[in-house]
Amino acid sequence: MPATPRIDITPAQEALAPVEPCTLIIFGGSGDLARRRLIPALYNLMLDGLLPANFAVLGLGRKSMTNEDFRATLREGVLTHSRQPLKEDRWSVFTERLFYLAGGNEDRQTYAALKARVEDIERQFGLPGNRIFYLSIPPSSFTAVCEGLEHSELAVRRARPYARIIVEKPVGRDLASAQQINAVTGRVFDESQIFRIDHYLGKETVQNLMVVRFANSIFEPIWNHKYIDHVQITVSEAEGVGTRATYYEEAGALRDMVQNHMLQLLCLVAMEPPYSLDPDVVRNAKMEVLRCLRPITGKDVEMFSVRAQYAAGVVGENPVPGYRREVGVKPDSTTETYVALKCFVENWRWSGVPFYLRTGKALPQRASEVAVQFKDIPQILFNAMPQHPQPANVLALRIQPEEGLSLRIVSRVPGTREQTHPVEMAFKYAEVFGRPSPEAYERLLLDVMAGDASRFMRRDAVEASWAWITKILEAWQQQGTRWLPEYPAGACGPVEADRLIQQDGRTWRPL
Ligand SMILES: NC(=O)c1ccc[n+]([C@@H]2O[C@H](COP(=O)([O-])OP(=O)(O)OC[C@H]3O[C@@H](n4cnc5c(N)ncnc54)[C@H](OP(=O)(O)O)[C@@H]3O)[C@@H](O)[C@H]2O)c1
Repeated sequence: MPATPRIDITPAQEALAPVEPCTLIIFGGSGDLARRRLIPALYNLMLDGLLPANFAVLGLGRKSMTNEDFRATLREGVLTHSRQPLKEDRWSVFTERLFYLAGGNEDRQTYAALKARVEDIERQFGLPGNRIFYLSIPPSSFTAVCEGLEHSELAVRRARPYARIIVEKPVGRDLASAQQINAVTGRVFDESQIFRIDHYLGKETVQNLMVVRFANSIFEPIWNHKYIDHVQITVSEAEGVGTRATYYEEAGALRDMVQNHMLQLLCLVAMEPPYSLDPDVVRNAKMEVLRCLRPITGKDVEMFSVRAQYAAGVVGENPVPGYRREVGVKPDSTTETYVALKCFVENWRWSGVPFYLRTGKALPQRASEVAVQFKDIPQILFNAMPQHPQPANVLALRIQPEEGLSLRIVSRVPGTREQTHPVEMAFKYAEVFGRPSPEAYERLLLDVMAGDASRFMRRDAVEASWAWITKILEAWQQQGTRWLPEYPAGACGPVEADRLIQQDGRTWRPL
């Protein structure tokens, strides 16, 4: 059987809906996210011919910078972080559309200056007044910005020219704070104008989850408790806390990874087939999963969750200090850098099927995947010897580093002896489609310009996932733990997490 031939996709084939000229206003334009992700994403969209020919970007921040300083910083960001190399001729066209304005988010004068500047830029380039406001700032500033936009009448509830707002994660740190952010954004903008970003939803394999399930006839009939033994969702990071201790100390792995990315992955695996691809129909189907998640409360938290911190160790060849010794971390911190959960989706399809979730920092490598393990075959024929059980079939969707998909099956070893061995049928996006996938932020920025909210979090889903997470946080707090279990940096996690899954007769997939 020949391997899948390489298929070259040209950027033009990718364009879905035409996008109208617009101005992107980035609150936090002088920050890390804008430099490393947002501007490189826009630059790549331009190279691929997907950005509207007429566009402008206005970055805001507190730092005092000229347009030239701003452009130089962003150039360096593109040089280091862009998927495609910097091409001088294209960059010089792009860079003329980048502007900067200094001002504090809490300062009302900022919004008067912003309004004047946006109108200036729109006049200069003949832009039609479509505006996207990107909140790439700490959540503590979200309210001030929404109120500033409301007060200055930059926030308008109309379809044409449009005003849209992108809200970066984290949307809150528990249910109450998420509700508060949603209340203020919801007072100023209509839900249809709000795009809550979860960049995992822009990743190719994550988008492919729905395609695998609903564009192939072989999976859906067996996608249920009769055939699936369990599901493992892993988001493993090799990096320690690095320079983000201030943020991370307040967040921890559960808030940082599970509340958003991992629950969204779980929803995509577990949801019922939506009747159309309409954004709200898909989001309703995901919402149903969140409603069915069995709460982990009170004493159950000991049976269904494990949290831990990394101790000193080595990741790759790099020595890593223990979490409590990292700069900016309290020496008696109880912030978890690792979490493992055993969850149940309590509906007909998933009755009794555990979903094991694990995520952590300072693990051996950066790897994210969803693995669906099917039930064991009966103990007859090739599986007759209990001391040599045949490994179960596993469908694994790898989200990073190399996006792709593999199916583990058992095969006969060539030769005269009756021997079997597990083998993997695999495909990698970059090999089959001839180039690496676009970055998640490219897809998502384009979606906002096109007004397509499918890959964004709706208000009810954000609050439902926070409601579920907050119960775990409260149960942890009731435990009153002063020391968390530890795992050496570079190890796959704490022994307590191994026990969580081993007590069910299962094991984690290797990292
Ligand atoms: N970096 C990432 O990879 C990443 C990933 C996912 C989500 N996020 C989220 O994205 C947001 C931005 O992250 P970041 O990494 O870019 O943070 P950052 O590097 O600390 O940048 C924060 C930005 O916000 C501006 N800012 C902060 N307080 C302000 C105020 N009161 N008035 C005006 N401007 C203010 C800063 O301006 P000055 O520096 O000029 O003061 C800076 O431009 C955060 O909510 C973060 O959680 C970041």
